[in-house]
Amino acid sequence: MLAHAVIDELKENNELICTDVEDLDITDEQKTIEFVNNLKPEYIINCAAYTAVDKAEDDKVLAEKVNSIGPKNLAKASKIADCTLIHISTDYVFDGEKDVNESYKEDEKIGPVTVYGETKANGEKNIRENCDKYYIFRTAWLYGEGNNFVRTMLKLGKEKEEINVVADQHGSPTYAVDLASIISQAIDKKIPYGIYHTTNQGFTTWYEFTKEIFEYAGINCKVNPVTSEEFVRPAKRPKNSKLSKDKILSLGIKIPEYKDALKRYIEKEI
Ligand SMILES: NC(=O)c1ccc[n+]([C@@H]2O[C@H](COP(=O)([O-])OP(=O)(O)OC[C@H]3O[C@@H](n4cnc5c(N)ncnc54)[C@H](OP(=O)(O)O)[C@@H]3O)[C@@H](O)[C@H]2O)c1
Repeated sequence: MLAHAVIDELKENNELICTDVEDLDITDEQKTIEFVNNLKPEYIINCAAYTAVDKAEDDKVLAEKVNSIGPKNLAKASKIADCTLIHISTDYVFDGEKDVNESYKEDEKIGPVTVYGETKANGEKNIRENCDKYYIFRTAWLYGEGNNFVRTMLKLGKEKEEINVVADQHGSPTYAVDLASIISQAIDKKIPYGIYHTTNQGFTTWYEFTKEIFEYAGINCKVNPVTSEEFVRPAKRPKNSKLSKDKILSLGIKIPEYKDALKRYIEKEI
């Protein structure tokens, strides 16, 4: 999903080499190093990941390979080729138990409670330990091209008279197009290397967000709030996914509000 938005954002003013798993499997250390060293790019933008959060609970080996070993290989390769690695991580590196009136800062202690979160946290650690020139952009609740929460709700809203949505998980929905813009701005401004929280601005719950999706799309479907306990999933969802953007905002990076992003996405989608 994110890769499409990144390509659209950067293709006009940059020479891009885009790969999928057929061209380059990032879990293969030797091939990854050779590939990067042959190209000697200025930047590597890693949008590849194992993103099936529930499936990962029973598929730890593959999730670890893609989310932890893959970034390690890219970090080693970027160090050898002397380029900058841009990597995407997640709110799931935190346990989500923080008071929901507060948001997580970049330097707070992580403590993943899912296999997906653990593998992504390991990926971050591997990058920090294997190269110096890196950006780790933690994001959350991503939607954009392809299947995603907003598209699912738009479909269900048209089919059903009412729908139950979890109301006790808090976070920021993030439009992939806006995350791609943040990446592009970070490159242009050459912000200091490190970890940054990069979601759209503003906080909401899945319940409130669904009501906004229906409102902006003109869909008449009743939304009932339910608790996480009433909507059990194989992988536990964080109650608090709120990421503070203070660090990146202080560097002059512009980030739109999630409501503005949702309106733009829905205009495009319907
Ligand atoms: N989606 C979210 O809500 C969310 C939230 C927070 C953070 N993130 C992070 O944001 C980033 C982008 O997520 P996304 O939703 O755009 O992901 P996505 O749509 O699932 O795309 C991930 C891509 O990685 C590829 N891939 C898997 N294994 C690979 C390998 N070994 N080598 C090379 N490519 C491989 C996949 O290829 P195939 O399709 O062929 O398997 C897929 O095209 C990820 O780092 C994710 O962890 C996502």
